[in-house]
Amino acid sequence: MTQYSELGYWSSEAAAKRTRTAVKMMPGTFAICALTSVLLSVTWAEDLRPHHHPHHQHHPDHHEEQLIWDKLHYPNANFAIALYKRLNAEAAAGKNIFFSPLGISNALSVLSAGASGETHRQLFSTLGYSTLNQTQVNKAYEHFLHTLGHGHENEQVNVGNAVALRSGFKPERQYLSVVRHYFLSDIFEVDLSKLDEAAAEINKFIANKTQNKIEDAVKDLDSDMRMMLINYVYFKGEWGTPFSPRMTHKADFHVNATTTVQVDMMTNEDVYDIYRDTENHTTVVQLPYKGNTFMMIVLPDEDKMEEVEGYISRDYVRHWHKSVKGSCVNLSLPKFSISADYSLDNTLKEMGIIDAFEDRADFSGLSEAEDLKVTTVSHQAVLNVDESGTEAAAATTVQISVKSACFSEPIKVTRPFFAFIVEKPTRTLLFMAKINNPTAA
Ligand SMILES: *[C@@H]1O[C@H](CO)[C@@H](O)[C@H](O)[C@H]1NC(C)=O
Ligand SMILES: *[C@@H]1O[C@H](CO)[C@@H](O)[C@H](O)[C@H]1NC(C)=O
Ligand SMILES: *[C@@H]1O[C@H](CO)[C@@H](O)[C@H](O)[C@H]1NC(C)=O
Ligand SMILES: *[C@@H]1O[C@H](CO)[C@@H](O)[C@H](O)[C@H]1NC(C)=O
Ligand SMILES: *[C@@H]1O[C@H](CO)[C@@H](O)[C@H](O)[C@H]1NC(C)=O
Repeated sequence: MTQYSELGYWSSEAAAKRTRTAVKMMPGTFAICALTSVLLSVTWAEDLRPHHHPHHQHHPDHHEEQLIWDKLHYPNANFAIALYKRLNAEAAAGKNIFFSPLGISNALSVLSAGASGETHRQLFSTLGYSTLNQTQVNKAYEHFLHTLGHGHENEQVNVGNAVALRSGFKPERQYLSVVRHYFLSDIFEVDLSKLDEAAAEINKFIANKTQNKIEDAVKDLDSDMRMMLINYVYFKGEWGTPFSPRMTHKADFHVNATTTVQVDMMTNEDVYDIYRDTENHTTVVQLPYKGNTFMMIVLPDEDKMEEVEGYISRDYVRHWHKSVKGSCVNLSLPKFSISADYSLDNTLKEMGIIDAFEDRADFSGLSEAEDLKVTTVSHQAVLNVDESGTEAAAATTVQISVKSACFSEPIKVTRPFFAFIVEKPTRTLLFMAKINNPTAA
């Protein structure tokens, strides 16, 4: 992997900051959303007022950014639910759904930093950032990525960005400085003369950042690729009260009215924050991790999944989060391990991000020299829940390529023509022809 050196990356201030992002977290900043068709579990941004974090004293000028981040996590939560609904509508019935809303919002925010005009407007509108400008969004992410560094030692959260550049391709310096400074991005070059090796190199980078949970995020690269924006999210948390493996037993899990599967059911009796919302047909349990995160399990009543899925929104989740109360519970929760892989191009287009994928895309902020558009947005996520805790990882990649060089100007060879066959190195004319009638001998 060749570090992109033109910017003197390793000596930069960003590099120094980068070393601190390895991890951990504070309340109120991290959203990762896991929904399965029968079990819905959300580790949700604690969607409340600005917190008075002790570490504020280290960032005396960051109060404003904290306020902007508060403005961002509302739209981010709305985007998460809207995206969930799309993915769910597209998924085969009964399929698990799992993704990192934060990862996708973050990757698209890095993309929008290089977009202009209508392309930018569509990205912002879909992300719900319409009342903000790019500078505010950049600063909010900068604040968010920095605050991740202050957490609890039993909890690991690593969120970051990177840009893989085709060797020889020079994006606008201003863009690189934005992604490096605000999004703390690593920047490296890949040699696209060997597409497989370049993909393997990007995959190695992502695997390293996700503790090898995601090893094949990139399947194939486009030979016209100029750059790839990468976001990774890694989370590992230990339950505040671990489940005892001795208590885990085989039990039935009812996928639907006709199908039952056997799962390893973990059980634990303890005081948990719960809420039974009979009016909305839902039971909510919050399982804290050691540190500042929790998993919220939202369990719709029997046969009510579709109904709850229909109305679920940020406001419901917030209402549930505010309504939970400590209560003694004998909790049975299956141990599970799932993964999901999405190509988001069509989903994002349906959500209003259209121009970015078209020849009319305006990424002049990324490169003035070359005319670019997005060719693929992919997302992969894995989630493991067991007796000791949770490990989850996600990677989002945005592949950016040159637009089809041709503006489809018609050239029709429908009359007599010349043909020359030239050997390039010696510029030798090997053959020459004039074709008057292609059907004649
Ligand atoms: C973005 O908005 C902020 C706050 O309204 C304003 O101070 C700033 O000048 C704006 N920046 C740009 C580039 O428009
Ligand atoms: C990631 O790379 C760093 C630096 O090369 C190395 O120290 C670390 O062990 C790697 N992590 C994984 C999970 O491979
Ligand atoms: C129940 O789930 C199984 C397995 O996913 C599926 O084959 C079946 O069609 C589902 N039945 C109903 C009624 O949804
Ligand atoms: C049902 O959900 C709505 C919307 O979040 C909320 O206003 C209402 O209080 C909920 N009902 C109960 C019993 O919590
Ligand atoms: C909790 O529930 C499990 C499974 O239903 C049961 O085996 C266990 O005995 C219960 N624990 C207590 C303390 O009641």
